[in-house]
Amino acid sequence: MKLIILAGGGGTRLFPLSRTCLPKQFLKLGDTDSLLTQTVKRFLPLVKPADIVVVTNKEYIHHVKTELASCGVAEAHILLEPVARNTAPAIALAVRFCQDRLGASEEEVLFVSPADHIIQPVDIFIKNVRQAAELAGQNKIVTLGVKPNKPETGYGYIQTGEPFADGYQVESFREKPDRTTAEEYLAAGSYYWNSGMFAFTVACILDQFRRHSSEIAAIAAAPLDEFINQFSTMPNISIDYAVAEKSDQVVMVPLTAEWNDIGSWDAIYDVLPKDYAGNALNGDCLPIDCANTLMLGRNRLIAGIGLEDVLVVETDDVIVVAKRGESQKVKDVVAELKARG
Ligand code: GDD
Ligand code: MG
Repeated sequence: MKLIILAGGGGTRLFPLSRTCLPKQFLKLGDTDSLLTQTVKRFLPLVKPADIVVVTNKEYIHHVKTELASCGVAEAHILLEPVARNTAPAIALAVRFCQDRLGASEEEVLFVSPADHIIQPVDIFIKNVRQAAELAGQNKIVTLGVKPNKPETGYGYIQTGEPFADGYQVESFREKPDRTTAEEYLAAGSYYWNSGMFAFTVACILDQFRRHSSEIAAIAAAPLDEFINQFSTMPNISIDYAVAEKSDQVVMVPLTAEWNDIGSWDAIYDVLPKDYAGNALNGDCLPIDCANTLMLGRNRLIAGIGLEDVLVVETDDVIVVAKRGESQKVKDVVAELKARG
């Protein structure tokens, strides 16, 4: 099995810490490794560094090199996209690389993982990955599904059908539905979230690109260097829209490890350790009579008095203070700043 790690997204949902120049996958939360390094290390019980490929944007090369140095992944295994074209072209590029440079056969299983999630415990996760890899060998596109607990509109939704091996047949896949649809899916009980991880064989994904995304398939057929030269002419589309929504070969294995996409400051608060009063403190923090509050400082002391259910994030040039439960609106701040120019 080869592992393809997608590390080229430019998300700003964790502004002001994550920005276009420092997306979520490179963040270190608490005293831990960055999310990218955690991702690589999570797979090491199953995949050796020589079988790992990291696909990223050329803008992020320095971050990726620094992060991978501690995991044993060679620089030659970092693939650089000249421009961002979302995950479908990134995956196509990695598949080509696996064939041309790592000797992957048509039957070899490829496992695709995002680089910006928290998943634990590792032993259960590895069991789930093995189950997915096993099914991928049966010419299926396998996704790992997460039982939803809220009508989140930022995820893909998988409608499960008949049981199939360790998982289910997938009746339909719907990427990022609107709020009303997400509420219906949650109420129906037969839907899972797409965790963003996929397993398939080389032959299966190439066939799926040919069927559902002929522009990608055409360029992906070229030798690696030519592929990279033509990369900017690729459609800008995620694998979820390009393949998962259209394919009838998708099956799902439930992810039984705990999964957190940490797509907001609220989610960060949830995963960080807390003091006796429920405060998550990171950096130089002085809470007086504070409860259930996140304080995350990079440079300066944060002193809080009488705060409850508040999120405070401090960086060089920006301080965000938000009510817990409202941190999705950080995207409105980013939009406003963009509009101001
Ligand atoms: N190399 C590369 N190039 N990587 C990319 C690119 C790109 O152009 N765009 C995104 N990525 C990486 C991100 O860094 C992340 O690790 C992963 O691909 C997924 O991209 P996101 O941009 O975070 O996708 P999403 O969160 O909106 O949606 C996906 O993940 C959800 C779960 O977190 C989808 O797969 C959803 O269906 C899924 O529910
Ligand atoms: Mg994401």
